[in-house]
Amino acid sequence: MKNQIIEQTKVYVRNELGEDATGHDWFHVDRVRRNALHICQEEKIGEPFIIEMAALLHDIPDEKLNESAEKGKEKLASFFQRITLPDEAKNHIIQIIESISYKGGRKTELKTVEAKIVQDADRLDAIGAIGIARAFAYGGKKGQLIYDPNIAIRAEMSLDEYRKGKSTSIHHFYEKLLKLKDLMNTEAARKMAESRQQMMVVFLEQFYQEWDEQEL
Ligand code: ADP
Ligand code: NI
Repeated sequence: MKNQIIEQTKVYVRNELGEDATGHDWFHVDRVRRNALHICQEEKIGEPFIIEMAALLHDIPDEKLNESAEKGKEKLASFFQRITLPDEAKNHIIQIIESISYKGGRKTELKTVEAKIVQDADRLDAIGAIGIARAFAYGGKKGQLIYDPNIAIRAEMSLDEYRKGKSTSIHHFYEKLLKLKDLMNTEAARKMAESRQQMMVVFLEQFYQEWDEQEL
């Protein structure tokens, strides 16, 4: 029964996100799903079914991928109308998805261990080698520069500034990606974040070195 719902959800998500070029493609979702189940196993907490469903559906209502936040919510709700699941489980999954978005660093208190695990899994996929690739894919699609040394790094910003302000993909590392390691909720995720953090630090060092290499 649960297996069947998972399979049904996978088919739905693959159809919805398969070709997205902003780093929210099916493979992103599948990595988040596997990372989340791995953390659940390591920490021996949380209900795997709820975690897997929330991981699979976490990007479906994302306001960046929908006409509006409201339209995104409706899309998720209409999927839930088609599947057979107790309201309690549906509401828990929806509540996880609504609570885990980063939104410029604003901290929302996560209510359940399942939410904490899915958030960690999503954040793990935003850092490391894959995180680097996704940042430039997202930046390119959005039309922002790889880097511009004349733009200041914004340490604090409103949600609107975070989404719309002029920035570059390199700036995004300081505005978000390098901060994620210390924001992990679980020990298992913090451990997985270490080598990924190191990868980004080395990448940035090399990036500036190449940028400044030929001083004429
Ligand atoms: P958010 O809620 O912060 O938008 P997402 O997880 O939806 O986060 O972002 C999707 C991917 O795109 C992530 O890998 C994220 O780091 C990257 N991304 C988001 N905003 C930017 C940006 N301004 N520049 C480069 N990459 C970005
Ligand atoms: Ni995601």
